[in-house]
Amino acid sequence: MNLFDVYPINPIEIVKGVGSLVYDAHGTEYLDMYGGHAVISIGHTNPRYVERLENQLHQIGFYSNSVEIPLQKELAEKLGQVSGKTDYQLFLCNSGAEANENALKLASFYNGKKKVIAFHKSFHGRTSLAVAATDNPKIVAPVNETDNIIFLPWLDEVALEQAFAGNEISSVIIEGIQGVGGIQVASESFLQKIRALCNEYNAVFIADSVQCGYGRTGKFYSHDFAGVDADIYSMAKGMGNGFPIGGISISPKIKPAYGMLGTTFGGNHLACAAGLAVLEVMEQDNLMQNAATVGGYLIEELKKFDQVKEVRGRGLMIGIELPAELADVRKDLLYKHHIFTGEAKPNVVRLLPALNLTQAHADRFLEAFAATLKSAPVVA
Ligand SMILES: Cc1ncc(COP(=O)(O)O)c(C=O)c1O
Repeated sequence: MNLFDVYPINPIEIVKGVGSLVYDAHGTEYLDMYGGHAVISIGHTNPRYVERLENQLHQIGFYSNSVEIPLQKELAEKLGQVSGKTDYQLFLCNSGAEANENALKLASFYNGKKKVIAFHKSFHGRTSLAVAATDNPKIVAPVNETDNIIFLPWLDEVALEQAFAGNEISSVIIEGIQGVGGIQVASESFLQKIRALCNEYNAVFIADSVQCGYGRTGKFYSHDFAGVDADIYSMAKGMGNGFPIGGISISPKIKPAYGMLGTTFGGNHLACAAGLAVLEVMEQDNLMQNAATVGGYLIEELKKFDQVKEVRGRGLMIGIELPAELADVRKDLLYKHHIFTGEAKPNVVRLLPALNLTQAHADRFLEAFAATLKSAPVVA
């Protein structure tokens, strides 16, 4: 049997990781400025994480949601505390798409309405409603197409107000910083406008925090910069440091009912152990503060390069916009300097490293980046 060939891959086999370093099968060391796609939040093989998962595996790995799983309550308690939303409720699932799917569905259960506002260049996942709310026709199959999604221009307050006018909007889904869309930061005034309109029309504000959340920007949710609360926060990626876990944090105004949402694997013992380890390490090691400090340093240093068109982002979610002539920079970083980065098309280098990236590793990246630009073609 062959693998279903859907991923363009680099011919590198990663076999080991420690903190922000990973190693291939030949023992070559790589600096991981990509965090395995924003997933590695507390560093590869973090000892406290490994120990907690190992201990849990010896106790019990899985039992269904038909029995008491105190670890779920522990995780909810900790998440409420670390995120500052102590009165919110947690529903656990397994991925970012699933989190958004549940968020959109829950919003519609809550207010009985059908229309969803999403934004140009958004990415919310690949399942039915999540992909329908994703602004990329190439990944939307005919069966996913629905006229329930209204796409609006990014940060256009007038268009937003007009879309609400008929009072049909069930929810607005927005990334605090668009990831796949090229590290575009939502303005504080736009997020505040969404909050006000959702209040006025009894619509649900869904903060997709799958990539930009979980402390990456220096605040727990990047939407927090606007000083308003969303009704539902969806999360995944950094939540389990590689263990598949997702969830939605739900405002107390939305009331649960038996059978409303459900999942087989969501909230299993191992996933909760992983989730708890991540939050404990984040708190004990002050990782949000580190993301703000080291990320802020990187952003300031990157702005000093003449060839860089723009540097966007917050904390350790950074986009470096390059001119088309420098399209090979990522390849050079990987193959000449052994540094993994992410990309956003057409020409943005995305940095999404672990939140405990050290200053020394940030400098190692900056030196390699400078060397890459020096050997690159001169930009007219
Ligand atoms: C903002 C955002 N939402 C949702 C998703 C989907 O998450 P998953 O791949 O875990 O389904 C992603 C994944 O990249 C994302 O960046």
